[in-house]
Amino acid sequence: MNQIIKTVKAHYRHSVERLHHIYGVRDTALKLGKPLGCDPDHIRLAAYLHDITKPLPREDHIALIKAYYDDFVLKAFTEPLWHAYSAAAFARKHFNITDENILKAIESHTVGRPAMTNLEKVIFVADYIEPSRMFPKSVEIRAIAFQDFERAVYEIINASIQFHETFGDFVPKVAYEAKAYYKKRR
Ligand SMILES: [Fe+2]
Ligand SMILES: [Fe+2]
Repeated sequence: MNQIIKTVKAHYRHSVERLHHIYGVRDTALKLGKPLGCDPDHIRLAAYLHDITKPLPREDHIALIKAYYDDFVLKAFTEPLWHAYSAAAFARKHFNITDENILKAIESHTVGRPAMTNLEKVIFVADYIEPSRMFPKSVEIRAIAFQDFERAVYEIINASIQFHETFGDFVPKVAYEAKAYYKKRR
């Protein structure tokens, strides 16, 4: 764990805001995950690693993803979303993380997916609502996440899709599948 924290600090040495985001995700995820019975060490690992590759150049994302996934990942997600998969690959490669639940939580943190595990949902929600996120939707969903966790999952998926659609961005198919799945459960 210490080596992981060191790497996180090194990767974000030029961005104190990003580092605050990582700590915010960790602390929020610990609060959300405790009542759901998530392992606190799994939460910490997923939180520290979820954005670990974000500052890396394009070629590094491509190389990491190609080494651990088939080409569908590069095609199914837009470039800003690649970091979720390259981060999971980085976790395998450099820290020997093999726990599928931790890896999935890293992979799913951007747009979610249907039938996420509790750990995946906890990281997904914490990434959106941690205290340094100041945009209105984040503040709004932060207010409900501790009372109605499943609804928060749905609202975040929905808000992210709307955000990308507004800017005319390509929205991955899995985001719509996740929206349909959680709509029934909110
Ligand atoms: Fe991210
Ligand atoms: Fe993040």
